[in-house]
Amino acid sequence: MSIAIVTGASSGMGWEAVVQTADRFGGNGIEEIWVIARRLERLKELRRKVPVPLRLFALDLTEDSSLDVLRLELARRAPRVKILVNAAGYGRLGKVGESELSQETGMVRLNCEALYGVTHVVLPFMADHGRILLFASAAGFLPQPGFAAYAATKAFVVSFGRALNEELRDRDIIVTSVCPGPVNTEFFETEGMAGELPFYKKLAMADPKKVVKKALRDSMMGKPVSVYGWTMKGFWILCKIIPHGLLLKGMGRLKDNR
Ligand SMILES: NC(=O)c1ccc[n+]([C@@H]2O[C@H](COP(=O)([O-])OP(=O)(O)OC[C@H]3O[C@@H](n4cnc5c(N)ncnc54)[C@H](OP(=O)(O)O)[C@@H]3O)[C@@H](O)[C@H]2O)c1
Repeated sequence: MSIAIVTGASSGMGWEAVVQTADRFGGNGIEEIWVIARRLERLKELRRKVPVPLRLFALDLTEDSSLDVLRLELARRAPRVKILVNAAGYGRLGKVGESELSQETGMVRLNCEALYGVTHVVLPFMADHGRILLFASAAGFLPQPGFAAYAATKAFVVSFGRALNEELRDRDIIVTSVCPGPVNTEFFETEGMAGELPFYKKLAMADPKKVVKKALRDSMMGKPVSVYGWTMKGFWILCKIIPHGLLLKGMGRLKDNR
């Protein structure tokens, strides 16, 4: 049986990845989609919206036992995983030490450790020529004071994704790190993200449907990094050519003059 697996499927870009994967590949290579998130009701709602059978996993990926559930199910059914989308993740605004330690380390645990763990567990079942999409962020291009831990987790994802892409070259499995700027999802409604967004983030706010469409297209085209929109592409290039110290100073001034 050929399947896709999507984490973070209960909202935002994970939800959209399920919808678009079903539209694009349902009846054309993908027989079932395994969807993972904590909110079971949302996953049930998603099941009613897509034409491909969904297998629901109501799991908190920060718990070790969750990976065991996935590992066992993979071993039992031995599917060929054609697409893996790691979209589960969250952010916490504020300076280091301003939130509860458990919230800050929980973010590192979900954005890095769980993403790594899911990828590790699924890898033996990945089909040759398969696709792995890792949701990173443009925040991974440059350290972000006030969003330091989140940006660091996303830098981890970009680095991990690019290295894994090279490691899997002989199996023709493409790993794409998806690096959007701000996207209009529940991400900004979660605890720890409340507050006024900087104007430049509001300006660059993207539609999750478009971001996911581009990410899937870039993945199929074999791109290791997917960046949505000209603003973020410009930011990516700036981060490659301008010393990060200078950029951090400039961004600090922008914030001060707001
Ligand atoms: N929105 C943006 O501006 C933006 C920009 C760049 C990158 N990203 C990244 O893109 C990815 C998707 O974000 P989004 O914007 O779609 O956010 P979202 O709408 O808040 O979705 C986050 C998903 O992660 C799941 N999740 C959270 N904690 C979990 C846990 N402990 N165990 C399992 N699943 C968990 C949530 O499901 P449950 O709550 O049901 O568990 C939800 O399905 C994230 O990695 C995010 O960092 C977002």
